[in-house]
Amino acid sequence: MTSATVGDNLAQNQVSTRGFVADVLAGLAADQKTLPPKYFYDAAGSELFGAICALEEYYPARTETSILKTHADDMAAAIGADAMVIEYGAGSMEKIRILLDALVAPVVFVPVDISKAHLIAAAKDLRRAYPDLAVQQVVADFTKPVPLPVPPRPASRRVAFFPGSTIGNFDPDPTVAFLRSIGDTVGPNGGLLIGIDLQKDENRLVRAYDDAAGVTADFNLNLLTRINRELGGNFVLEQFRHVVFYDRDLGRIEMHLESLVDQSVRIAGWTFNFTAGETIHTENSYKYTVAGFDDLATRAGFQRDRHWTDTEGLFAELFYIRMP
Ligand code: AVI
Repeated sequence: MTSATVGDNLAQNQVSTRGFVADVLAGLAADQKTLPPKYFYDAAGSELFGAICALEEYYPARTETSILKTHADDMAAAIGADAMVIEYGAGSMEKIRILLDALVAPVVFVPVDISKAHLIAAAKDLRRAYPDLAVQQVVADFTKPVPLPVPPRPASRRVAFFPGSTIGNFDPDPTVAFLRSIGDTVGPNGGLLIGIDLQKDENRLVRAYDDAAGVTADFNLNLLTRINRELGGNFVLEQFRHVVFYDRDLGRIEMHLESLVDQSVRIAGWTFNFTAGETIHTENSYKYTVAGFDDLATRAGFQRDRHWTDTEGLFAELFYIRMP
Protein backbone atom coordinates (compact mmCIF):
# COMPACT_ATOMS: atom_id res chain seq x y z
CA MET A 1 0.00 0.00 0.00
CA THR A 2 2.77 2.41 0.90
CA SER A 3 5.69 3.04 -1.38
CA ALA A 4 8.70 4.98 -0.16
CA THR A 5 11.74 5.93 -2.19
CA VAL A 6 15.15 6.57 -0.70
CA GLY A 7 15.57 10.17 0.40
CA ASP A 8 18.76 12.14 0.50
CA ASN A 9 18.26 14.98 2.91
CA LEU A 10 17.82 13.25 6.28
CA ALA A 11 21.42 13.95 7.27
CA GLN A 12 20.67 17.66 7.14
CA ASN A 13 18.11 17.39 9.92
CA GLN A 14 19.03 18.63 13.35
CA VAL A 15 19.44 16.16 16.23
CA SER A 16 16.19 17.36 17.82
CA THR A 17 14.31 16.60 14.60
CA ARG A 18 15.80 13.15 14.09
CA GLY A 19 13.35 11.29 16.29
CA PHE A 20 10.45 13.10 14.64
CA VAL A 21 11.66 12.23 11.12
CA ALA A 22 12.29 8.61 12.06
CA ASP A 23 8.87 8.23 13.70
CA VAL A 24 7.03 9.89 10.81
CA LEU A 25 8.81 7.87 8.12
CA ALA A 26 8.35 4.58 9.99
CA GLY A 27 4.71 5.37 10.79
CA LEU A 28 3.78 6.28 7.23
CA ALA A 29 5.61 3.24 5.80
CA ALA A 30 3.43 0.82 7.83
CA ASP A 31 0.44 -0.94 6.26
CA GLN A 32 -1.88 0.95 8.60
CA LYS A 33 -0.24 4.35 8.48
CA THR A 34 0.24 5.87 11.95
CA LEU A 35 1.67 9.02 13.52
CA PRO A 36 2.50 9.13 17.26
CA PRO A 37 0.16 11.45 19.21
CA LYS A 38 3.05 12.96 21.18
CA TYR A 39 3.77 15.10 18.09
CA PHE A 40 0.42 16.89 18.40
CA TYR A 41 1.89 19.26 20.96
CA ASP A 42 3.90 21.92 19.12
CA ALA A 43 3.00 25.52 20.06
CA ALA A 44 -0.12 25.57 17.85
CA GLY A 45 -1.15 22.06 18.95
CA SER A 46 -0.77 22.91 22.64
CA GLU A 47 -2.92 25.98 22.12
CA LEU A 48 -5.55 23.92 20.29
CA PHE A 49 -5.50 21.37 23.12
CA GLY A 50 -6.17 24.21 25.56
CA ALA A 51 -9.14 25.20 23.39
CA ILE A 52 -10.38 21.58 23.36
CA CYS A 53 -10.33 21.54 27.16
CA ALA A 54 -12.66 24.56 27.19
CA LEU A 55 -15.21 22.94 24.80
CA GLU A 56 -18.65 21.99 26.09
CA GLU A 57 -18.33 18.56 24.41
CA TYR A 58 -14.92 17.79 25.99
CA TYR A 59 -16.06 16.92 29.51
CA PRO A 60 -12.82 15.27 30.91
CA ALA A 61 -10.88 18.42 31.82
CA ARG A 62 -13.60 20.23 33.74
CA THR A 63 -14.97 17.02 35.28
CA GLU A 64 -11.58 16.06 36.72
CA THR A 65 -11.14 19.57 38.09
CA SER A 66 -14.50 19.35 39.84
CA ILE A 67 -13.68 15.89 41.29
CA LEU A 68 -10.40 17.27 42.65
CA LYS A 69 -12.14 20.30 44.14
CA THR A 70 -14.90 18.24 45.73
CA HIS A 71 -12.64 15.55 47.22
CA ALA A 72 -9.30 17.29 47.80
CA ASP A 73 -9.51 16.85 51.58
CA ASP A 74 -10.17 13.11 51.27
CA MET A 75 -7.34 12.78 48.77
CA ALA A 76 -5.00 14.66 51.09
CA ALA A 77 -6.02 12.36 53.96
CA ALA A 78 -5.33 9.28 51.80
CA ILE A 79 -1.90 10.67 50.84
CA GLY A 80 -1.02 11.70 54.41
CA ALA A 81 1.23 14.43 55.82
CA ASP A 82 4.83 15.12 54.79
CA ALA A 83 4.64 13.56 51.32
CA MET A 84 6.92 14.11 48.34
CA VAL A 85 4.52 14.73 45.44
CA ILE A 86 5.73 14.06 41.90
CA GLU A 87 3.60 15.23 38.98
CA TYR A 88 4.11 13.41 35.70
CA GLY A 89 3.78 15.64 32.62
CA ALA A 90 3.23 18.65 34.86
CA GLY A 91 2.29 21.13 32.09
CA SER A 92 0.74 24.30 33.46
CA MET A 93 0.52 22.94 37.07
CA GLU A 94 -3.08 24.08 37.51
CA LYS A 95 -4.67 20.92 38.90
CA ILE A 96 -1.92 20.31 41.46
CA ARG A 97 -2.84 23.60 43.15
CA ILE A 98 -6.18 22.11 44.19
CA LEU A 99 -4.33 19.26 45.91
CA LEU A 100 -1.60 21.48 47.36
CA ASP A 101 -4.26 23.61 49.03
CA ALA A 102 -5.45 20.52 50.92
CA LEU A 103 -2.21 18.61 51.57
CA VAL A 104 -0.70 18.67 55.06
CA ALA A 105 2.93 19.88 55.08
CA PRO A 106 4.07 18.45 51.73
CA VAL A 107 7.87 18.08 51.86
CA VAL A 108 8.43 18.95 48.22
CA PHE A 109 6.59 19.15 44.91
CA VAL A 110 8.51 17.66 41.96
CA PRO A 111 6.98 18.57 38.58
CA VAL A 112 8.39 16.43 35.76
CA ASP A 113 8.08 17.43 32.12
CA ILE A 114 10.04 17.09 28.89
CA SER A 115 9.42 20.71 27.89
CA LYS A 116 12.13 22.63 29.77
CA ALA A 117 11.11 26.22 29.09
CA HIS A 118 7.49 25.57 29.91
CA LEU A 119 8.42 23.62 33.07
CA ILE A 120 10.66 26.39 34.39
CA ALA A 121 8.07 29.10 33.70
CA ALA A 122 5.23 27.13 35.33
CA ALA A 123 7.41 26.21 38.35
CA LYS A 124 8.27 29.88 38.79
CA ASP A 125 4.58 30.82 38.85
CA LEU A 126 3.89 28.05 41.36
CA ARG A 127 6.71 29.19 43.68
CA ARG A 128 5.26 32.68 43.59
CA ALA A 129 1.81 31.37 44.56
CA TYR A 130 3.19 28.93 47.21
CA PRO A 131 6.24 30.68 48.72
CA ASP A 132 6.54 28.15 51.59
CA LEU A 133 6.52 25.12 49.30
CA ALA A 134 9.76 23.52 48.06
CA VAL A 135 9.48 23.00 44.28
CA GLN A 136 12.22 20.93 42.60
CA GLN A 137 11.44 20.53 38.91
CA VAL A 138 12.96 17.74 36.83
CA VAL A 139 13.28 17.96 33.04
CA ALA A 140 12.81 14.38 31.88
CA ASP A 141 10.88 12.04 29.62
CA PHE A 142 8.50 10.80 32.27
CA THR A 143 7.80 7.52 30.46
CA LYS A 144 11.26 6.40 31.65
CA PRO A 145 12.40 6.08 35.34
CA VAL A 146 12.62 9.60 36.78
CA PRO A 147 15.76 10.62 38.73
CA LEU A 148 14.39 12.27 41.88
CA PRO A 149 16.04 15.22 43.63
CA VAL A 150 17.07 14.98 47.30
CA PRO A 151 14.19 16.51 49.28
CA PRO A 152 14.85 19.33 51.79
CA ARG A 153 13.71 17.01 54.62
CA PRO A 154 12.78 13.33 54.76
CA ALA A 155 9.37 12.52 53.28
CA SER A 156 6.86 10.08 54.76
CA ARG A 157 6.21 8.65 51.29
CA ARG A 158 6.45 9.47 47.60
CA VAL A 159 3.21 10.00 45.70
CA ALA A 160 2.93 10.28 41.92
CA PHE A 161 0.17 12.47 40.48
CA PHE A 162 -0.82 11.77 36.87
CA PRO A 163 -4.02 13.67 36.03
CA GLY A 164 -5.77 14.39 32.74
CA SER A 165 -6.42 10.78 31.60
CA THR A 166 -3.18 11.04 29.65
CA ILE A 167 -2.68 7.37 30.58
CA GLY A 168 -5.53 6.68 28.13
CA ASN A 169 -3.25 7.59 25.22
CA PHE A 170 -1.05 4.54 25.99
CA ASP A 171 -1.96 1.01 24.83
CA PRO A 172 -2.54 -1.51 27.66
CA ASP A 173 0.91 -3.20 27.69
CA PRO A 174 2.83 0.11 27.64
CA THR A 175 0.41 1.30 30.35
CA VAL A 176 1.47 -1.58 32.60
CA ALA A 177 5.16 -0.93 31.83
CA PHE A 178 4.73 2.77 32.59
CA LEU A 179 2.84 2.10 35.84
CA ARG A 180 5.60 -0.32 36.86
CA SER A 181 8.16 2.41 36.24
CA ILE A 182 6.12 4.80 38.42
CA GLY A 183 6.07 2.06 41.07
CA ASP A 184 9.87 1.86 40.93
CA THR A 185 10.05 5.63 41.36
CA VAL A 186 7.67 5.88 44.33
CA GLY A 187 8.87 2.63 45.95
CA PRO A 188 7.01 0.32 48.39
CA ASN A 189 4.12 2.06 50.14
CA GLY A 190 4.42 4.92 47.64
CA GLY A 191 1.19 6.27 46.17
CA LEU A 192 -0.26 6.96 42.74
CA LEU A 193 -3.16 9.38 42.20
CA ILE A 194 -4.26 9.01 38.58
CA GLY A 195 -7.12 10.37 36.45
CA ILE A 196 -8.91 8.05 34.01
CA ASP A 197 -11.77 8.64 31.61
CA LEU A 198 -14.61 6.17 32.16
CA GLN A 199 -16.54 4.10 29.60
CA LYS A 200 -19.87 5.69 28.75
CA ASP A 201 -22.45 6.31 26.05
CA GLU A 202 -20.76 6.07 22.64
CA ASN A 203 -22.31 9.28 21.26
CA ARG A 204 -21.06 11.29 24.19
CA LEU A 205 -17.56 9.91 23.66
CA VAL A 206 -17.52 10.57 19.92
CA ARG A 207 -18.81 14.14 20.37
CA ALA A 208 -15.94 14.83 22.80
CA TYR A 209 -13.46 14.03 20.01
CA ASP A 210 -15.48 15.38 17.05
CA ASP A 211 -16.77 18.70 18.34
CA ALA A 212 -19.17 20.87 16.35
CA ALA A 213 -16.74 23.80 16.06
CA GLY A 214 -14.06 21.57 14.53
CA VAL A 215 -11.39 22.38 17.12
CA THR A 216 -10.37 18.73 17.51
CA ALA A 217 -10.28 18.38 13.71
CA ASP A 218 -7.87 21.34 13.58
CA PHE A 219 -5.81 19.74 16.38
CA ASN A 220 -5.57 16.48 14.40
CA LEU A 221 -4.80 18.19 11.06
CA ASN A 222 -2.16 20.37 12.73
CA LEU A 223 0.03 17.28 12.78
CA LEU A 224 0.25 17.51 8.98
CA THR A 225 0.98 21.24 9.17
CA ARG A 226 3.81 20.46 11.60
CA ILE A 227 5.26 17.82 9.27
CA ASN A 228 5.07 20.28 6.36
CA ARG A 229 6.85 22.97 8.37
CA GLU A 230 9.45 20.98 10.28
CA LEU A 231 10.16 18.14 7.84
CA GLY A 232 9.54 19.86 4.52
CA GLY A 233 6.41 17.81 3.80
CA ASN A 234 3.83 18.76 1.17
CA PHE A 235 0.57 17.51 2.68
CA VAL A 236 -2.44 19.38 1.24
CA LEU A 237 -4.63 19.72 4.31
CA GLU A 238 -7.86 20.11 2.31
CA GLN A 239 -7.28 16.59 0.96
CA PHE A 240 -7.57 14.99 4.42
CA ARG A 241 -10.42 14.87 6.92
CA HIS A 242 -10.65 14.21 10.66
CA VAL A 243 -12.31 10.85 11.46
CA VAL A 244 -13.33 9.60 14.92
CA PHE A 245 -14.94 6.37 16.07
CA TYR A 246 -15.31 4.35 19.26
CA ASP A 247 -14.09 0.75 19.21
CA ARG A 248 -16.31 -0.84 21.84
CA ASP A 249 -14.34 -4.11 21.99
CA LEU A 250 -11.06 -2.34 22.66
CA GLY A 251 -12.74 0.39 24.74
CA ARG A 252 -11.02 3.18 22.90
CA ILE A 253 -11.68 6.26 20.81
CA GLU A 254 -9.59 6.24 17.63
CA MET A 255 -8.67 9.39 15.74
CA HIS A 256 -7.59 9.16 12.11
CA LEU A 257 -6.86 11.44 9.18
CA GLU A 258 -8.55 10.11 6.05
CA SER A 259 -7.24 10.80 2.56
CA LEU A 260 -10.08 12.15 0.42
CA VAL A 261 -8.39 11.30 -2.90
CA ASP A 262 -5.68 9.10 -4.38
CA GLN A 263 -2.53 11.13 -3.80
CA SER A 264 1.22 11.12 -3.14
CA VAL A 265 2.92 13.10 -0.39
CA ARG A 266 6.63 13.86 -0.19
CA ILE A 267 8.38 14.15 3.19
CA ALA A 268 12.12 14.53 3.71
CA GLY A 269 12.84 13.12 0.27
CA TRP A 270 10.50 10.14 0.60
CA THR A 271 7.21 9.56 -1.25
CA PHE A 272 4.12 8.08 0.41
CA ASN A 273 1.10 7.01 -1.64
CA PHE A 274 -2.44 7.27 -0.31
CA THR A 275 -5.55 5.74 -1.83
CA ALA A 276 -8.87 7.56 -1.35
CA GLY A 277 -10.34 6.44 1.99
CA GLU A 278 -7.00 5.30 3.42
CA THR A 279 -6.28 6.68 6.89
CA ILE A 280 -3.41 7.71 9.14
CA HIS A 281 -4.16 6.50 12.67
CA THR A 282 -3.12 9.40 14.92
CA GLU A 283 -4.43 8.64 18.43
CA ASN A 284 -6.05 6.12 20.73
CA SER A 285 -7.81 7.32 23.85
CA TYR A 286 -8.73 4.37 26.09
CA LYS A 287 -11.82 4.52 28.27
CA TYR A 288 -11.85 2.29 31.33
CA THR A 289 -14.02 0.92 34.07
CA VAL A 290 -12.50 1.27 37.54
CA ALA A 291 -12.20 -2.53 37.74
CA GLY A 292 -10.60 -2.69 34.28
CA PHE A 293 -7.96 -0.15 35.24
CA ASP A 294 -7.41 -1.95 38.56
CA ASP A 295 -6.41 -5.04 36.54
CA LEU A 296 -3.64 -3.11 34.77
CA ALA A 297 -2.49 -1.43 38.00
CA THR A 298 -2.40 -4.76 39.83
CA ARG A 299 -0.20 -6.23 37.08
CA ALA A 300 2.13 -3.28 37.73
CA GLY A 301 2.31 -3.91 41.50
CA PHE A 302 -0.30 -1.42 42.74
CA GLN A 303 -3.34 -2.00 44.93
CA ARG A 304 -6.24 0.44 44.89
CA ASP A 305 -6.91 2.25 48.16
CA ARG A 306 -9.69 4.71 47.24
CA HIS A 307 -11.33 6.28 44.21
CA TRP A 308 -13.53 9.28 43.55
CA THR A 309 -15.87 10.04 40.68
CA ASP A 310 -18.37 12.71 39.61
CA THR A 311 -22.15 12.38 40.00
CA GLU A 312 -22.57 11.35 36.32
CA GLY A 313 -19.78 8.76 36.51
CA LEU A 314 -17.90 10.33 33.59
CA PHE A 315 -14.37 10.39 35.02
CA ALA A 316 -12.52 8.94 38.01
CA GLU A 317 -9.54 9.76 40.17
CA LEU A 318 -7.94 6.58 41.53
CA PHE A 319 -5.53 6.31 44.45
CA TYR A 320 -3.22 3.29 44.48
CA ILE A 321 -0.56 2.10 46.87
CA ARG A 322 2.53 0.35 45.61
CA MET A 323 2.70 -3.10 47.17
CA PRO A 324 5.89 -4.07 49.05
C1 AVI B 1 -4.17 14.33 26.31
N1 AVI B 1 -5.24 13.35 26.14
C2 AVI B 1 -5.68 12.83 27.44
C3 AVI B 1 -6.37 13.81 25.31
C4 AVI B 1 -7.45 12.69 25.20
O1 AVI B 1 -8.59 12.99 25.54
O2 AVI B 1 -7.10 11.57 24.84
C5 AVI B 1 -5.90 14.20 23.92
C6 AVI B 1 -7.03 14.58 23.01
N2 AVI B 1 -7.16 14.20 21.77
C7 AVI B 1 -8.23 14.72 21.26
N3 AVI B 1 -8.84 15.44 22.17
C8 AVI B 1 -8.08 15.39 23.28
